Amino acid sequence: MQVNEALIQSCTPGIAQEASVSNLGYGNLYYALVRQLKPQHVLVIGSGYGFSPAVMALGLVHNGSGRLTFVDPSMSASRDGPNAAHGGSGQWDTPEQVQARLQCAGVPEGIVTHFKETNQQFFARYEARGMPPIDLALIDGAHDEANASFDLAAVTARLRLPGYVLMHDATHFLNRTGHMGVSAVLDRARRQGGLEEMVTFPGEAGLALLRFASRPQIDVRSAPPPSVLLPMIGVFGIGMISAVVLVWARQKLRGA
Ligand SMILES: C[S@@+](CC[C@H](N)C(=O)[O-])C[C@H]1O[C@@H](n2cnc3c(N)ncnc32)[C@H](O)[C@@H]1O
Repeated sequence: MQVNEALIQSCTPGIAQEASVSNLGYGNLYYALVRQLKPQHVLVIGSGYGFSPAVMALGLVHNGSGRLTFVDPSMSASRDGPNAAHGGSGQWDTPEQVQARLQCAGVPEGIVTHFKETNQQFFARYEARGMPPIDLALIDGAHDEANASFDLAAVTARLRLPGYVLMHDATHFLNRTGHMGVSAVLDRARRQGGLEEMVTFPGEAGLALLRFASRPQIDVRSAPPPSVLLPMIGVFGIGMISAVVLVWARQKLRGA
């Protein structure tokens, strides 16, 4: 059984997944965990173009059992603003869009159920929908501290123990500016107990794999992240200054 890396990257490209057309990057870990743990219920919160749901669903297909729940409200920067979108670009507006991407990546129908809901809306209806416990989860939705802590608390409350949780953006540099809060959530979870083991994998975003043997206490923080406007102005400003310096240097050189 194999996953076609090139197909995955063209149909469901990853964002900061350390992947290329010949290497799944973090996807290797997603696939291996599904194959080895043989989860009956996988939960993925957030995906730009379907990379992680596709890779994990293919693992379930190759296992011959298991279902995947995919939660993403299909946020988009142009519609919802860059702060709310968290990198989303409206890829999951209709069931047809979801099916098209997954089928293109080789995932048969009936494995993935998509909920076009925010994390809050989804977990508020979890028990009423009679959803099963979670065996393996990937948290990759809204990365600010309030949402990351909410996701980890909501997932671990429904985890079949012992259970495994992956958190994307675990060591991303934006954690240091306060625009992401994943590393703060992980630091607190380590101090507060219940988190039995944790390992982080390197990369632009960083990926943490957590193992819970008992139900942890996860504090849900409500502080919103700082605006992305200021860093955007900063980057634009540096670009403008560099361009002016370049033009000036070129003219100087020509004159010399
Ligand atoms: C940028 S993507 C994650 C990228 C990911 N690393 C990948 O490879 O696709 C983040 C996703 O989170 C979704 N999202 C934003 N706010 C959310 C929320 N409150 N609950 C769940 N998902 C959310 C967005 O719609 C977006 O698709």
